[in-house]
Amino acid sequence: MSKLKKLQLSLFRNIEQATLHFTDGLNLIIGDNAAGKTSLIEAIWVLSSGRSFRSSKPAHLINNQYPEFTLFAEVEQAEQNYKIGLTRSIESSLCKINGEVEKSQAQMAVHLPVQLLTPESHRLLEEGPKIRRQFMDWGCFYYAPEFIKLWRIYQRVLKQRNNALKQQQAKSQVQLWDTQLVDVAEKIDDIRSNYISKLSPFVAQFCVALMPEISENLDMNYRAGWAKAAENYHSVLSQNYYKDAKLGHTQYGCHRADIRFKFAGTEAMLKLSRGQQKLFVCALLLAQASLFEHTSGEQVIMLIDDLPAELDGNHRLTLLKLLDLLKIQHIITTTSEDLIPCIQTDTTKIKIELGKII
Ligand SMILES: Nc1ncnc2c1ncn2[C@@H]1O[C@H](COP(=O)(O)OP(=O)(O)OP(=O)(O)O)[C@@H](O)[C@H]1O
Ligand SMILES: [Mg+2]
Repeated sequence: MSKLKKLQLSLFRNIEQATLHFTDGLNLIIGDNAAGKTSLIEAIWVLSSGRSFRSSKPAHLINNQYPEFTLFAEVEQAEQNYKIGLTRSIESSLCKINGEVEKSQAQMAVHLPVQLLTPESHRLLEEGPKIRRQFMDWGCFYYAPEFIKLWRIYQRVLKQRNNALKQQQAKSQVQLWDTQLVDVAEKIDDIRSNYISKLSPFVAQFCVALMPEISENLDMNYRAGWAKAAENYHSVLSQNYYKDAKLGHTQYGCHRADIRFKFAGTEAMLKLSRGQQKLFVCALLLAQASLFEHTSGEQVIMLIDDLPAELDGNHRLTLLKLLDLLKIQHIITTTSEDLIPCIQTDTTKIKIELGKII
């Protein structure tokens, strides 16, 4: 079980100092617009992933009047307690786990596995493949411990190959990188396709639970980033060498992977209403949470920013019941308590006003 027990913030956005205690089930954060609700969700996300979901730059996370922020969390996982700390300024970042400096952000994610649903989550269906790769790789990170190392090697080798292409080095120089790139790409591809095939039945199951009105079967189609049916990756690189050289970068590979979602042959984005798109993203996250539990025996912590903006009353209730059934700790923000159907007696309610917990 992974449960967030306590969160302390110092000089994070509009929150100068705050300490929050969480229950294992439903935690409601209630406040008016601009009170600091999303900032609290963002703080937990930053502690887990090392970055904001608003921008890749950290400046907006640091309180305007000060040079750095500090976040601290206490997490219970597999009957152990972990204290996770992060201090961040524009130039530097210091992570600590149980008082020891931790160089790898990945360890923070291991001890604080969180998922995030925001009013922008339907972008997963609308936008380019990057956001879907992030979704898939969140799962692969926890599903296969070697994934993160392979992904780092892949990025490093791809960068070297792209540099060689940009500098118009000789073909033999560029192709020096191919064997290494192919070796690691095939391993990443194996993990991703395996993960998606394991995830797919869970997604189908949660689609039925959240959108029983849809009778068509869901088809989740993983794409490697090169035409696998036609060629192996090595020959794809060889055959596209001249085009790559002209463009100055490698066109095909794991950095171009994607997942397509279709209902009876129709793209999910075209078939589903806006509300259904949000429910579909909920189904994807719940599926990941369930597979995560199957493989690790742990549970994720679900962060939901502005639940009422996401779903209507009935669907809010269905989602909360599912989270309760799956015993997932959930931290939800809302502008009004009345909009959240409370189905548990031990709900923790946290009120925030102009950056202060009241
Ligand atoms: N770096 C910063 N320093 C201080 N305050 C900031 C900083 N960045 C943003 N803010 C302010 O923090 C406040 C809280 O923002 P936040 O997005 O958390 O609000 P919210 O409660 O989620 O509001 P809404 O209901 O409108 O989504 C806003 O007034 C915002 O302008
Ligand atoms: Mg907000």
